[in-house]
Amino acid sequence: MTATGDAILVVGGYGTIGRTVCNELANSVSEGVIAAGRSPEKAHRFADTIAGVNARTLDVNEESFDESLAGVGTVVMCLDAADATFARSCFERGIDYVDISPDDSLLRDIETADGIARKNGSTAVLSVGLSPGMTNLFVSDAAAELDTVDRADITLLLGLGEAFGPDTIKWTVEDAFGRFSVQNSEQSISVTGLTEPRMVRIPEWGRRRAYRANLADQQVLARTTDIPTVESRLCYDSRVVTRYLAALRRTGLFQPVVSMLGVNIIVKLADTLPVGSDESVIKTAVRGSKNGRLSRIEQWVRGPDQARATALVAVQVTSELVGSSQPAGVLHIQELFDSSPFVETLLEGNYEVGRTQQQGRVS
Ligand SMILES: NC(=O)c1ccc[n+]([C@@H]2O[C@H](COP(=O)([O-])OP(=O)(O)OC[C@H]3O[C@@H](n4cnc5c(N)ncnc54)[C@H](OP(=O)(O)O)[C@@H]3O)[C@@H](O)[C@H]2O)c1
Repeated sequence: MTATGDAILVVGGYGTIGRTVCNELANSVSEGVIAAGRSPEKAHRFADTIAGVNARTLDVNEESFDESLAGVGTVVMCLDAADATFARSCFERGIDYVDISPDDSLLRDIETADGIARKNGSTAVLSVGLSPGMTNLFVSDAAAELDTVDRADITLLLGLGEAFGPDTIKWTVEDAFGRFSVQNSEQSISVTGLTEPRMVRIPEWGRRRAYRANLADQQVLARTTDIPTVESRLCYDSRVVTRYLAALRRTGLFQPVVSMLGVNIIVKLADTLPVGSDESVIKTAVRGSKNGRLSRIEQWVRGPDQARATALVAVQVTSELVGSSQPAGVLHIQELFDSSPFVETLLEGNYEVGRTQQQGRVS
C-alpha cells in the first residue's frame, strides 16, 4: 500500500521537542507540516504561530487512524507511545516513520512490525535524537574504525536547568531508574538504575560519578552490533542531586518517595526547579584495538537545550527520508546513516562536538 499524501505529521507536535521539529521542518521542506496532539486548542494555538504548519487532533491510543493519517507521507513521533499499535498503522499505509523514544521495550515492539513495513514500503527510523541517537552513531562509527571492540560506554550528563517536557520527566522517573537488562561480556545481566557508579571525565565538567540508567542506546547497540559489553550511565550537572538520588536508591527509598509524591507532582516540581545549568552532554567511549595496539575513541556533544539538539537530529533524519529513497523496514539510526551529516547539523546549531583517540600497547 502507498501513503495517501506527502504531508509530514509531527505527533506531539506542540510539545517541547515537537515544536522545534515543526518549526525547522516548515522552514526546510516543501511538504506540508501538521502538528498533532490530543488537544485541538493547543494544536491550533501552536499552528497559528508558524506559517506552513497546520493542526490536527490525534490520540495514539485511539482505535482507528483513518482520519488522522489521511494525506500523510511521513510521521515523526515526539512522545513515548505505550505500544507499537500506531507505528503498525503507519506501516500498513506505507507511511515513513521517525521515532525519538528512548524506551527500549517500545522500540522492540516496533521492530516486530518490520515485515509489515517492508511489505508496504515504509522506512522506519528508530533511536533518533541525542541518546538514543547520536550515541548510537558515535559508537557504531568508532567500532567500524577498530579491528576489535571490547566495550562501549555511553554517558549522559543532564543539566537540571534544562526545559524538559512532561513526557521526558515522566520517562526519567518511571522508566530510567528501574530494573532492566544490559549486555556484559555477551551475557544479558539484570541491573538496577542509580547503582554501580563509574567515574567518567565529561568535557568541561570534569570527573563525574555516573550511574546505571535504562537508556535504550545500550540495548539497541547490544542487539544490532557485536560489541560484547555496552553500558549507559547518567548523572546530573549537580553532584549533590546525583548523589542524593543514588542514596535514595541505596537506602530503598527511591520508589517510596516517587510513589508518595506521584509522577504528576514530580513533573510540576521539576518544571519549577530554580537550580542547575541549561547544558547537557552526551559522551561515548569505545575501547578496542587497532593494528595490535589498544585504542580508545571518545566522542561527545555538549551545549544548551538538549530538546533543540534532539529536534535537529529528528529533522535531519526526516529530511533524508523525504528527500531520497531509503530501504523499507524498521531500522535504527546507525543502521542507515553515519554520524557526519548530524555532526554538521549540530555544529551549525552551535553545539560543540568533539572527538579524541588514544592509542597504547595492548596488554
Ligand atoms: N532521543 C532523545 O535523545 C530524546 C531526548 C529527550 C526526550 N526524548 C523523548 O522525546 C519525547 C518527547 O519529549 P518532550 O520533552 O517533547 O515531551 P512533552 O513536552 O511532554 O511533549 C509530548 C507531546 O506529546 C503529546 N501527547 C502525549 N500523549 C499523546 C497521545 N496519547 N497522543 C497524541 N499526542 C500525545 C503531548 O500533547 P497532549 O498531552 O496535549 O496530547 C505533547 O505535545 C519523550 O518520549 C522523551 O522521552 C528523546
